[in-house]
Amino acid sequence: MPNVVVVGAQWGDEGKGKIVDLLTEHADVVVRFQGGNNAGHTLVVNGEKTVLHLIPAGILHPGKSCVIGNGVVFDPEVFVMEVDRLKSRNALADDAQLVVSLDAHVIMPWHKAIDIAREQAMGAGKIGTTGRGIGPTYEDKVARRGLRIRDLLDAGRLERKVKERLPAAREELRRLGATPDLDEAAIVARYAELGRRVARYAADVSLWLHRALQNGKQLLFEGAQGTMLDVDHGTYPFVTSSNTVAGNAVVGCGLGPTAVDYVLGISKAYSTRVGGGPYPSELKDETGERLRKIGGEFGATTGRPRRTGWLDVLALRYAARVNGLHGIAMTKLDVLTGFDTVKIAVGYRVDGKVLDEMPSDPELLERAEAIYEELPGWSEKLDHLRSWDDLPPRARTYVKRVEELVGVPVVGLSVGADRGQTILLVNPFRA
Ligand code: IMP
Repeated sequence: MPNVVVVGAQWGDEGKGKIVDLLTEHADVVVRFQGGNNAGHTLVVNGEKTVLHLIPAGILHPGKSCVIGNGVVFDPEVFVMEVDRLKSRNALADDAQLVVSLDAHVIMPWHKAIDIAREQAMGAGKIGTTGRGIGPTYEDKVARRGLRIRDLLDAGRLERKVKERLPAAREELRRLGATPDLDEAAIVARYAELGRRVARYAADVSLWLHRALQNGKQLLFEGAQGTMLDVDHGTYPFVTSSNTVAGNAVVGCGLGPTAVDYVLGISKAYSTRVGGGPYPSELKDETGERLRKIGGEFGATTGRPRRTGWLDVLALRYAARVNGLHGIAMTKLDVLTGFDTVKIAVGYRVDGKVLDEMPSDPELLERAEAIYEELPGWSEKLDHLRSWDDLPPRARTYVKRVEELVGVPVVGLSVGADRGQTILLVNPFRA
Protein backbone atom coordinates (compact mmCIF):
# COMPACT_ATOMS: atom_id res chain seq x y z
CA MET A 1 0.00 0.00 0.00
CA PRO A 2 2.01 3.02 -1.14
CA ASN A 3 2.24 6.17 0.93
CA VAL A 4 3.15 9.34 -0.92
CA VAL A 5 4.91 12.54 0.20
CA VAL A 6 4.23 15.76 -1.70
CA VAL A 7 6.79 18.53 -1.20
CA GLY A 8 7.55 21.88 -2.78
CA ALA A 9 10.66 21.68 -4.95
CA GLN A 10 11.21 25.46 -5.11
CA TRP A 11 10.48 28.40 -2.76
CA GLY A 12 6.92 27.45 -1.86
CA ASP A 13 3.70 28.35 -3.67
CA GLU A 14 4.33 25.65 -6.29
CA GLY A 15 0.70 24.56 -6.33
CA LYS A 16 1.06 21.71 -3.84
CA GLY A 17 -2.48 22.24 -2.59
CA LYS A 18 -3.95 21.54 -5.99
CA ILE A 19 -1.89 18.37 -6.50
CA VAL A 20 -2.64 17.14 -2.97
CA ASP A 21 -6.32 17.81 -3.59
CA LEU A 22 -6.14 15.79 -6.80
CA LEU A 23 -4.24 12.88 -5.26
CA THR A 24 -6.48 12.74 -2.21
CA GLU A 25 -8.90 10.74 -4.29
CA HIS A 26 -6.40 7.85 -4.07
CA ALA A 27 -5.48 8.32 -0.40
CA ASP A 28 -7.35 7.61 2.81
CA VAL A 29 -5.53 10.08 5.05
CA VAL A 30 -3.81 13.42 4.34
CA VAL A 31 -1.12 14.41 6.84
CA ARG A 32 0.45 17.81 7.45
CA PHE A 33 3.81 17.46 9.16
CA GLN A 34 5.44 20.92 9.40
CA GLY A 35 4.89 24.64 9.08
CA GLY A 36 1.70 26.30 10.13
CA ASN A 37 -0.67 28.89 8.79
CA ASN A 38 2.20 30.58 6.94
CA ALA A 39 1.10 28.23 4.17
CA GLY A 40 -1.79 29.07 1.91
CA HIS A 41 -3.45 26.55 -0.33
CA THR A 42 -5.86 27.87 -2.87
CA LEU A 43 -8.22 25.25 -4.22
CA VAL A 44 -10.68 25.69 -7.03
CA VAL A 45 -13.28 22.97 -7.28
CA ASN A 46 -16.01 23.42 -9.88
CA GLY A 47 -15.18 27.12 -9.99
CA GLU A 48 -15.53 27.59 -6.21
CA LYS A 49 -12.42 28.93 -4.49
CA THR A 50 -11.35 27.85 -0.99
CA VAL A 51 -8.18 29.07 0.71
CA LEU A 52 -6.86 26.96 3.58
CA HIS A 53 -3.86 27.86 5.70
CA LEU A 54 -3.71 25.17 8.35
CA ILE A 55 -6.18 22.39 7.74
CA PRO A 56 -4.97 19.98 5.05
CA ALA A 57 -6.43 20.66 1.65
CA GLY A 58 -7.79 17.10 1.51
CA ILE A 59 -10.60 18.11 3.85
CA LEU A 60 -12.79 19.01 0.88
CA HIS A 61 -13.10 15.31 0.09
CA PRO A 62 -15.89 13.79 2.18
CA GLY A 63 -14.85 10.59 3.93
CA LYS A 64 -11.12 11.31 3.89
CA SER A 65 -9.25 11.92 7.13
CA CYS A 66 -6.96 14.90 7.59
CA VAL A 67 -4.25 14.87 10.21
CA ILE A 68 -2.18 17.69 11.68
CA GLY A 69 1.04 16.19 13.03
CA ASN A 70 3.27 17.07 15.97
CA GLY A 71 5.68 18.89 13.63
CA VAL A 72 3.13 21.57 12.78
CA VAL A 73 2.93 24.83 14.71
CA PHE A 74 -0.73 25.30 15.42
CA ASP A 75 -2.65 28.56 15.72
CA PRO A 76 -5.93 27.55 17.39
CA GLU A 77 -7.59 30.85 16.36
CA VAL A 78 -6.96 30.00 12.71
CA PHE A 79 -7.97 26.37 13.19
CA VAL A 80 -11.32 27.30 14.71
CA MET A 81 -11.94 29.88 12.00
CA GLU A 82 -11.22 27.35 9.24
CA VAL A 83 -13.38 24.69 10.90
CA ASP A 84 -16.28 27.18 11.12
CA ARG A 85 -15.81 28.28 7.53
CA LEU A 86 -15.72 24.69 6.26
CA LYS A 87 -18.85 23.82 8.21
CA SER A 88 -20.67 26.86 6.86
CA ARG A 89 -19.95 25.45 3.39
CA ASN A 90 -21.26 22.03 4.39
CA ALA A 91 -17.78 20.51 4.37
CA LEU A 92 -16.41 18.63 7.40
CA ALA A 93 -19.80 17.08 8.14
CA ASP A 94 -18.06 14.51 10.34
CA ASP A 95 -15.68 15.88 12.98
CA ALA A 96 -13.89 12.51 13.05
CA GLN A 97 -12.45 13.49 9.65
CA LEU A 98 -10.02 15.83 11.36
CA VAL A 99 -7.30 14.75 13.81
CA VAL A 100 -4.79 17.06 15.53
CA SER A 101 -1.69 15.97 17.42
CA LEU A 102 -1.74 16.64 21.16
CA ASP A 103 1.97 17.37 20.79
CA ALA A 104 1.74 20.09 18.15
CA HIS A 105 3.14 23.36 19.48
CA VAL A 106 0.71 26.24 19.85
CA ILE A 107 1.26 29.66 18.32
CA MET A 108 0.49 32.04 21.19
CA PRO A 109 -0.26 35.78 20.88
CA TRP A 110 3.27 36.72 21.92
CA HIS A 111 4.76 34.61 19.11
CA LYS A 112 2.85 36.62 16.53
CA ALA A 113 3.71 39.94 18.20
CA ILE A 114 7.42 39.03 18.42
CA ASP A 115 7.51 37.88 14.76
CA ILE A 116 6.07 41.19 13.57
CA ALA A 117 8.12 43.38 15.95
CA ARG A 118 11.35 41.63 14.97
CA GLU A 119 10.75 42.08 11.29
CA GLN A 120 10.02 45.76 11.85
CA ALA A 121 13.18 46.15 13.89
CA MET A 122 15.30 44.43 11.21
CA GLY A 123 14.43 46.98 8.53
CA ALA A 124 16.08 46.32 5.17
CA GLY A 125 17.67 43.02 6.24
CA LYS A 126 14.34 41.48 7.23
CA ILE A 127 13.43 37.92 6.29
CA GLY A 128 10.02 38.95 5.01
CA THR A 129 8.18 36.44 7.21
CA THR A 130 4.45 35.95 6.97
CA GLY A 131 4.09 37.47 10.45
CA ARG A 132 2.15 34.47 11.72
CA GLY A 133 4.48 33.70 14.64
CA ILE A 134 5.97 30.63 13.00
CA GLY A 135 9.66 31.27 13.82
CA PRO A 136 9.16 32.31 17.48
CA THR A 137 6.95 29.25 18.10
CA TYR A 138 9.55 26.85 16.70
CA GLU A 139 12.19 28.67 18.75
CA ASP A 140 10.24 28.05 21.95
CA LYS A 141 9.74 24.42 20.93
CA VAL A 142 13.46 23.83 20.53
CA ALA A 143 14.23 25.86 23.66
CA ARG A 144 11.85 23.50 25.53
CA ARG A 145 9.56 26.23 26.77
CA GLY A 146 6.69 25.95 24.28
CA LEU A 147 3.03 25.20 24.87
CA ARG A 148 1.51 22.19 23.19
CA ILE A 149 -2.09 21.45 22.42
CA ARG A 150 -2.26 19.16 25.42
CA ASP A 151 -1.43 22.17 27.61
CA LEU A 152 -4.55 23.98 26.40
CA LEU A 153 -6.73 21.13 27.60
CA ASP A 154 -5.69 21.43 31.23
CA ALA A 155 -6.63 24.77 32.79
CA GLY A 156 -4.02 24.60 35.56
CA ARG A 157 -1.22 23.68 33.19
CA LEU A 158 -2.21 26.39 30.73
CA GLU A 159 -2.24 29.08 33.40
CA ARG A 160 1.11 27.98 34.82
CA LYS A 161 2.79 27.92 31.41
CA VAL A 162 1.41 31.29 30.32
CA LYS A 163 2.54 32.79 33.63
CA GLU A 164 6.02 31.32 33.16
CA ARG A 165 6.47 32.53 29.61
CA LEU A 166 4.82 35.97 29.60
CA PRO A 167 7.47 38.05 31.43
CA ALA A 168 10.22 37.08 28.93
CA ALA A 169 7.89 37.67 25.97
CA ARG A 170 6.96 41.13 27.30
CA GLU A 171 10.61 41.89 27.88
CA GLU A 172 11.56 40.87 24.36
CA LEU A 173 8.78 42.96 22.85
CA ARG A 174 9.89 45.98 24.85
CA ARG A 175 13.45 45.48 23.66
CA LEU A 176 12.19 45.45 20.09
CA GLY A 177 10.43 48.76 20.67
CA ALA A 178 6.93 47.29 20.66
CA THR A 179 4.32 47.87 23.33
CA PRO A 180 3.38 44.48 24.73
CA ASP A 181 -0.37 44.25 24.89
CA LEU A 182 -0.53 40.87 26.57
CA ASP A 183 -3.09 40.45 29.32
CA GLU A 184 -2.43 37.23 31.21
CA ALA A 185 -5.97 36.55 32.38
CA ALA A 186 -7.44 37.30 28.95
CA ILE A 187 -4.93 35.00 27.23
CA VAL A 188 -5.55 32.15 29.66
CA ALA A 189 -9.33 32.50 29.28
CA ARG A 190 -9.21 32.70 25.48
CA TYR A 191 -6.81 29.79 25.01
CA ALA A 192 -8.74 27.61 27.46
CA GLU A 193 -11.82 28.31 25.37
CA LEU A 194 -9.94 27.51 22.16
CA GLY A 195 -8.66 24.34 23.84
CA ARG A 196 -12.26 23.28 24.43
CA ARG A 197 -12.99 23.77 20.73
CA VAL A 198 -9.90 21.82 19.64
CA ALA A 199 -10.32 19.01 22.21
CA ARG A 200 -12.65 16.88 20.12
CA TYR A 201 -10.03 16.69 17.34
CA ALA A 202 -6.95 16.16 19.54
CA ALA A 203 -5.32 12.72 19.63
CA ASP A 204 -2.10 10.74 19.82
CA VAL A 205 -1.39 11.10 16.09
CA SER A 206 1.51 8.66 16.01
CA LEU A 207 -0.68 5.89 17.35
CA TRP A 208 -3.63 6.95 15.21
CA LEU A 209 -1.51 6.79 12.04
CA HIS A 210 0.15 3.54 13.07
CA ARG A 211 -3.28 1.95 13.38
CA ALA A 212 -4.36 3.44 10.06
CA LEU A 213 -1.33 1.82 8.40
CA GLN A 214 -2.08 -1.48 10.09
CA ASN A 215 -5.56 -1.27 8.61
CA GLY A 216 -4.10 -0.84 5.13
CA LYS A 217 -4.89 2.87 4.78
CA GLN A 218 -2.92 4.92 2.24
CA LEU A 219 -1.29 8.11 3.48
CA LEU A 220 -0.60 11.30 1.59
CA PHE A 221 1.88 13.60 3.36
CA GLU A 222 1.29 17.23 2.46
CA GLY A 223 4.39 19.43 2.68
CA ALA A 224 4.16 23.18 3.15
CA GLN A 225 6.53 25.88 1.84
CA GLY A 226 9.35 24.54 -0.35
CA THR A 227 12.78 22.95 -0.33
CA MET A 228 14.64 26.23 -0.72
CA LEU A 229 12.90 27.48 2.44
CA ASP A 230 14.00 24.48 4.55
CA VAL A 231 15.75 25.61 7.74
CA ASP A 232 18.68 23.23 7.13
CA HIS A 233 18.75 22.91 3.36
CA GLY A 234 17.35 26.21 2.12
CA THR A 235 18.87 29.63 1.53
CA TYR A 236 19.59 30.23 5.22
CA PRO A 237 18.78 32.61 6.90
CA PHE A 238 16.09 33.45 4.34
CA VAL A 239 14.11 30.35 5.18
CA THR A 240 11.18 29.29 7.27
CA SER A 241 11.81 27.71 10.67
CA SER A 242 10.99 24.08 9.89
CA ASN A 243 12.32 21.24 7.76
CA THR A 244 10.23 21.32 4.62
CA VAL A 245 11.98 18.37 2.96
CA ALA A 246 10.46 14.94 2.55
CA GLY A 247 12.58 13.37 5.29
CA ASN A 248 10.63 15.37 7.86
CA ALA A 249 7.29 13.92 6.77
CA VAL A 250 7.59 11.00 9.15
CA VAL A 251 9.33 12.90 11.97
CA GLY A 252 6.53 15.45 11.95
CA CYS A 253 3.84 12.87 12.63
CA GLY A 254 5.50 10.09 14.61
CA LEU A 255 6.16 7.41 12.00
CA GLY A 256 9.39 5.89 10.70
CA PRO A 257 11.13 6.32 7.31
CA THR A 258 9.83 2.98 6.08
CA ALA A 259 6.33 4.51 5.94
CA VAL A 260 7.21 6.45 2.75
CA ASP A 261 7.12 4.83 -0.67
CA TYR A 262 7.05 7.68 -3.15
CA VAL A 263 8.21 11.31 -3.05
CA LEU A 264 6.63 13.76 -5.45
CA GLY A 265 8.14 17.23 -5.89
CA ILE A 266 6.01 20.08 -7.12
CA SER A 267 7.51 22.78 -9.29
CA LYS A 268 6.04 25.58 -11.30
CA ALA A 269 7.03 25.71 -14.95
CA TYR A 270 8.85 28.93 -13.97
CA SER A 271 9.74 30.13 -10.47
CA THR A 272 8.54 32.49 -7.76
CA ARG A 273 9.68 33.53 -4.32
CA VAL A 274 8.01 35.56 -1.55
CA GLY A 275 10.04 37.51 0.98
CA GLY A 276 13.76 38.25 1.00
CA GLY A 277 16.73 36.11 0.02
CA PRO A 278 18.83 35.13 -2.98
CA TYR A 279 17.10 34.20 -6.21
CA PRO A 280 19.49 34.01 -9.20
CA SER A 281 16.89 33.49 -11.92
CA GLU A 282 14.69 36.40 -10.75
CA LEU A 283 13.34 38.67 -13.48
CA LYS A 284 13.04 42.27 -12.39
CA ASP A 285 11.86 43.39 -15.80
CA GLU A 286 8.74 43.37 -17.94
CA THR A 287 8.96 39.61 -18.44
CA GLY A 288 8.88 39.12 -14.68
CA GLU A 289 5.91 41.47 -14.44
CA ARG A 290 4.18 39.52 -17.17
CA LEU A 291 4.70 36.22 -15.34
CA ARG A 292 3.32 37.82 -12.16
CA LYS A 293 0.28 39.12 -13.95
CA ILE A 294 -0.57 36.05 -16.03
CA GLY A 295 0.32 33.67 -13.21
CA GLY A 296 -1.62 35.68 -10.60
CA GLU A 297 1.48 35.66 -8.45
CA PHE A 298 0.27 37.26 -5.25
CA GLY A 299 0.63 35.46 -1.89
CA ALA A 300 -2.38 33.43 -0.75
CA THR A 301 -1.48 34.23 2.87
CA THR A 302 -0.23 37.80 2.83
CA GLY A 303 -1.35 39.07 -0.60
CA ARG A 304 2.23 40.23 -1.26
CA PRO A 305 3.32 40.30 -4.92
CA ARG A 306 5.60 37.33 -5.50
CA ARG A 307 9.02 37.75 -7.06
CA THR A 308 9.09 35.91 -10.37
CA GLY A 309 11.72 34.33 -12.62
CA TRP A 310 12.56 31.58 -15.05
CA LEU A 311 12.80 27.96 -13.98
CA ASP A 312 16.02 27.16 -12.14
CA VAL A 313 17.26 23.66 -12.90
CA LEU A 314 20.01 23.86 -10.28
CA ALA A 315 17.40 24.45 -7.60
CA LEU A 316 15.30 21.58 -8.95
CA ARG A 317 18.23 19.17 -9.15
CA TYR A 318 19.08 20.14 -5.59
CA ALA A 319 15.48 19.51 -4.54
CA ALA A 320 15.61 16.13 -6.26
CA ARG A 321 18.68 15.28 -4.22
CA VAL A 322 17.67 16.47 -0.74
CA ASN A 323 14.14 15.09 -1.02
CA GLY A 324 14.93 11.91 -2.95
CA LEU A 325 12.30 12.80 -5.56
CA HIS A 326 10.79 10.00 -7.59
CA GLY A 327 8.83 12.34 -9.81
CA ILE A 328 7.95 15.98 -10.44
CA ALA A 329 4.56 17.52 -11.06
CA MET A 330 4.97 20.71 -13.07
CA THR A 331 2.28 23.31 -12.43
CA LYS A 332 1.20 26.43 -14.30
CA LEU A 333 2.60 25.34 -17.65
CA ASP A 334 -0.26 27.34 -19.22
CA VAL A 335 1.28 30.58 -17.88
CA LEU A 336 4.21 30.20 -20.29
CA THR A 337 1.94 30.38 -23.34
CA GLY A 338 2.69 33.41 -25.50
CA PHE A 339 6.37 33.95 -24.74
CA ASP A 340 8.56 34.02 -27.88
CA THR A 341 11.23 32.10 -26.04
CA VAL A 342 11.30 30.39 -22.67
CA LYS A 343 14.46 30.20 -20.64
CA ILE A 344 15.83 27.68 -18.18
CA ALA A 345 18.62 28.55 -15.73
CA VAL A 346 21.22 25.82 -16.26
CA GLY A 347 24.19 27.33 -14.43
CA TYR A 348 25.36 30.26 -12.29
CA ARG A 349 28.20 32.63 -12.88
CA VAL A 350 29.71 33.60 -9.51
CA ASP A 351 32.94 35.49 -8.94
CA GLY A 352 34.16 34.62 -12.44
CA LYS A 353 33.41 30.91 -12.06
CA VAL A 354 30.65 28.83 -13.63
CA LEU A 355 28.70 26.53 -11.30
CA ASP A 356 26.43 23.77 -12.50
CA GLU A 357 25.22 22.66 -9.04
CA MET A 358 23.57 24.65 -6.26
CA PRO A 359 26.39 26.05 -4.08
CA SER A 360 26.25 24.98 -0.45
CA ASP A 361 27.01 28.55 0.68
CA PRO A 362 23.85 30.61 0.15
CA GLU A 363 25.88 33.82 0.31
CA LEU A 364 27.39 32.86 -3.04
CA LEU A 365 23.88 32.79 -4.42
CA GLU A 366 23.48 36.50 -3.66
CA ARG A 367 26.17 37.20 -6.22
CA ALA A 368 25.16 34.49 -8.68
CA GLU A 369 23.99 35.37 -12.13
CA ALA A 370 21.92 32.78 -13.93
CA ILE A 371 23.17 31.26 -17.19
CA TYR A 372 20.25 30.39 -19.42
CA GLU A 373 19.37 27.88 -22.06
CA GLU A 374 16.75 29.31 -24.40
CA LEU A 375 13.98 27.29 -26.03
CA PRO A 376 11.37 28.40 -28.54
CA GLY A 377 8.07 29.35 -26.91
CA TRP A 378 4.54 28.36 -27.96
CA SER A 379 1.45 30.43 -28.61
CA GLU A 380 -1.29 27.82 -28.15
CA LYS A 381 -3.48 28.00 -25.06
CA LEU A 382 -3.15 24.92 -22.86
CA ASP A 383 -5.92 25.28 -20.29
CA HIS A 384 -8.39 23.03 -22.14
CA LEU A 385 -5.87 20.24 -22.86
CA ARG A 386 -6.09 17.00 -20.93
CA SER A 387 -3.47 14.72 -22.49
CA TRP A 388 0.26 14.80 -23.14
CA ASP A 389 -0.21 14.12 -26.84
CA ASP A 390 -2.46 17.18 -27.23
CA LEU A 391 0.22 19.56 -25.92
CA PRO A 392 1.92 21.70 -28.56
CA PRO A 393 5.26 20.11 -29.55
CA ARG A 394 7.25 23.06 -28.17
CA ALA A 395 5.61 22.76 -24.76
CA ARG A 396 6.43 19.05 -24.76
CA THR A 397 10.03 19.82 -25.74
CA TYR A 398 10.26 22.26 -22.82
CA VAL A 399 8.98 19.68 -20.32
CA LYS A 400 11.22 16.94 -21.72
CA ARG A 401 14.26 19.22 -21.54
CA VAL A 402 13.57 20.05 -17.88
CA GLU A 403 13.16 16.36 -17.16
CA GLU A 404 16.48 15.61 -18.84
CA LEU A 405 18.33 18.39 -17.03
CA VAL A 406 16.94 17.49 -13.60
CA GLY A 407 17.17 13.74 -14.08
CA VAL A 408 13.71 13.10 -12.62
CA PRO A 409 10.60 12.27 -14.67
CA VAL A 410 7.81 14.81 -14.94
CA VAL A 411 4.81 12.72 -13.94
CA GLY A 412 2.13 15.38 -13.86
CA LEU A 413 1.30 18.69 -15.49
CA SER A 414 -1.13 21.37 -14.44
CA VAL A 415 -2.57 23.73 -17.05
CA GLY A 416 -5.05 25.73 -14.95
CA ALA A 417 -6.26 26.27 -11.40
CA ASP A 418 -9.23 23.89 -11.50
CA ARG A 419 -8.90 20.33 -10.23
CA GLY A 420 -9.76 19.05 -13.70
CA GLN A 421 -7.07 21.07 -15.48
CA THR A 422 -4.41 18.46 -14.86
CA ILE A 423 -2.56 15.87 -16.92
CA LEU A 424 -1.45 13.01 -14.67
CA LEU A 425 1.06 10.82 -16.50
CA VAL A 426 1.92 8.58 -13.56
CA ASN A 427 -0.23 8.10 -10.47
CA PRO A 428 2.22 8.00 -7.53
CA PHE A 429 -0.18 5.73 -5.65
CA ARG A 430 0.10 3.17 -8.43
CA ALA A 431 3.77 3.70 -9.26
P1 IMP B 1 7.81 32.44 8.01
O1 IMP B 1 7.58 31.03 7.63
O2 IMP B 1 6.54 33.23 8.19
O3 IMP B 1 8.73 32.57 9.19
O4 IMP B 1 8.58 33.18 6.79
C1 IMP B 1 9.93 32.84 6.43
C2 IMP B 1 10.11 32.90 4.93
O5 IMP B 1 9.35 31.84 4.33
C3 IMP B 1 9.60 34.17 4.26
O6 IMP B 1 10.45 34.45 3.16
C4 IMP B 1 8.22 33.81 3.78
O7 IMP B 1 7.80 34.59 2.70
C5 IMP B 1 8.45 32.37 3.37
N1 IMP B 1 7.24 31.57 3.42
C6 IMP B 1 6.63 31.07 4.51
N2 IMP B 1 5.56 30.34 4.16
C7 IMP B 1 5.50 30.37 2.83
C8 IMP B 1 4.62 29.76 1.88
O8 IMP B 1 3.69 29.03 2.20
N3 IMP B 1 4.88 30.04 0.57
C9 IMP B 1 5.94 30.80 0.19
N4 IMP B 1 6.78 31.37 1.03
C10 IMP B 1 6.57 31.15 2.35
